[in-house]
Amino acid sequence: MAKNWWKEGVVYQIYPRSFQDSTGNGLGDIQGIIDRLDYIQSLGVDMIWLCPVYESPNDDNGYDISDYRKISADFGGNPAFDRLLEAMHARGLKLLMDLVANHSSDEHHWFQQAQKSRENPYHDYYIWKSGTPDSPPNNWQSVFSGSAWKWNAATEEYFLHLYTQKQPDLNWENPKVRQEIYDIVDFWLAKGVDGFRMDVISLISKRLEFADTPQEMPFIDVMEQIYANGPRIHEFLNEMNREVLSQYDIVTVGEGPGVNLEHGPRYVSAAAKELDMVFHFDHLTIDFGPDGKYDPVPLDFVRFKEIFSQWDAALAADGWNSIFLGNHDFSRIVSRFGNDGQYHQESAKLLVLLLMTLRGTPYVYQGDEIGMTNITHDSIEAYDDVETRNAWKAAEAAGKDMDQFLKAVHWQSRDNARTPMQWNGENNAGFTSGTPWIPLNPNYTTLNVSAQEEDPQSILHFYRKTIAFRKANPTLVYGDYQDLAPDDLHLFAYRRWDANGSFWVIHNFSDQQQPLPEHFKPQTNQVFGNYPTDHALKLRPWESRVYKD
Ligand code: NOJ
Repeated sequence: MAKNWWKEGVVYQIYPRSFQDSTGNGLGDIQGIIDRLDYIQSLGVDMIWLCPVYESPNDDNGYDISDYRKISADFGGNPAFDRLLEAMHARGLKLLMDLVANHSSDEHHWFQQAQKSRENPYHDYYIWKSGTPDSPPNNWQSVFSGSAWKWNAATEEYFLHLYTQKQPDLNWENPKVRQEIYDIVDFWLAKGVDGFRMDVISLISKRLEFADTPQEMPFIDVMEQIYANGPRIHEFLNEMNREVLSQYDIVTVGEGPGVNLEHGPRYVSAAAKELDMVFHFDHLTIDFGPDGKYDPVPLDFVRFKEIFSQWDAALAADGWNSIFLGNHDFSRIVSRFGNDGQYHQESAKLLVLLLMTLRGTPYVYQGDEIGMTNITHDSIEAYDDVETRNAWKAAEAAGKDMDQFLKAVHWQSRDNARTPMQWNGENNAGFTSGTPWIPLNPNYTTLNVSAQEEDPQSILHFYRKTIAFRKANPTLVYGDYQDLAPDDLHLFAYRRWDANGSFWVIHNFSDQQQPLPEHFKPQTNQVFGNYPTDHALKLRPWESRVYKD
């Protein structure tokens, strides 16, 4: 296994509009991030993944880019970005940008041109099908509800948009489009950026027959079998690697909806020269029911562990994993996988200990380091997210039980993770002196960075300790992994080892005490944990322990 800086580092993900406002306009910005670099560095992380900060009409909060070389004036423009990069590098922190290359904004000048006529030189930058206004070319559904096709009267064609109508999919079959993207990537890398997280990169190669999806196929399967992993995906990624990525010492992580165990290893195989890591979603779609995300089913814990084990095995010889439990698209990790009530502290600590003891590069999403929780609004009006709002409309149109649906929104809305960072207990949590673009979680008065700085037992201090613990022990980075109790309904227990010895890690994912399994009984040398050590043969609720021999 080749050693790399990006395997040994820890990533901190920033959703800039919700991180820190420095101007009082209610929107986080780049100067706000610069002002918080001391804090970020104090966590012990090495890299920042910055969600999109480019010019954008913000139909999907920056994932709809209208100029790939311009930083949005809302965030401070290119000068602010240059200052951020310089300030980060001065501290030894690396910066990963978000590259959104499956689609652009419909306000990008490429699309503005493309939609004018079939002869326009940019027409072929997007994916068009002729037809009549009342019958889309196929039954494909957008990830954000409704048909994935929008009619364009000027050319009497439909264009494809797998996300919102303002996010037309780019045509990667066109070599000019690919060259445009590689030039953009080169523009930022030449500036000194240290890598990219590539948005829905698994979707860039389309199945050109555009066949209907079988009726009744669950959306997860549609994603896996119809939208993602298209016939030329590996060719395109390999080409991008050859043309531009390989010229720099950088890191890439591809966001991979629909990337499963069958396809995943190829994306990250060092030999295949495509990407360094992917984010697969097997463990984050685990509670999606037959009707998808807003039709949640109880989490199958045995399956949850199995996913981690299978992916570890699949990438053990060639490739590298990314270890994450949430981001700006999912609920808060302590609310989803822990207990954000009685065992808030314990379970938030358990989750970071899980992240830091699995094999792969760990990602921490802003606010998780203080155990930020989901938000519960009484009405859909308080939600901002386009995915949530569209899903709501579609459910209403389908005559669903909307009280039930509101519960699903509480559980799954992306806004759970987008409430502003809770810096202190004062006005607007110290996020802004103005009116925040999205409501704060009211628990900021007690759950905030300042309060946790003062408390040596806080989740925040535990994150720092746990990140430092991982970094002091390369066995936790590169060592082998084996699940020791795959069928246990409450415990996640595994061994990580190399020539330097073994770590025995055990997490109690339950509100009850659980007996220590056989493997752990002879162990008395506990080196780390989220409760005071007592060597008891029972694990306390949400207790995590690490033994070493
Ligand atoms: C994944 C991004 O993380 C999400 O926020 C966005 O809506 C979609 N891709 C579309 O770009």
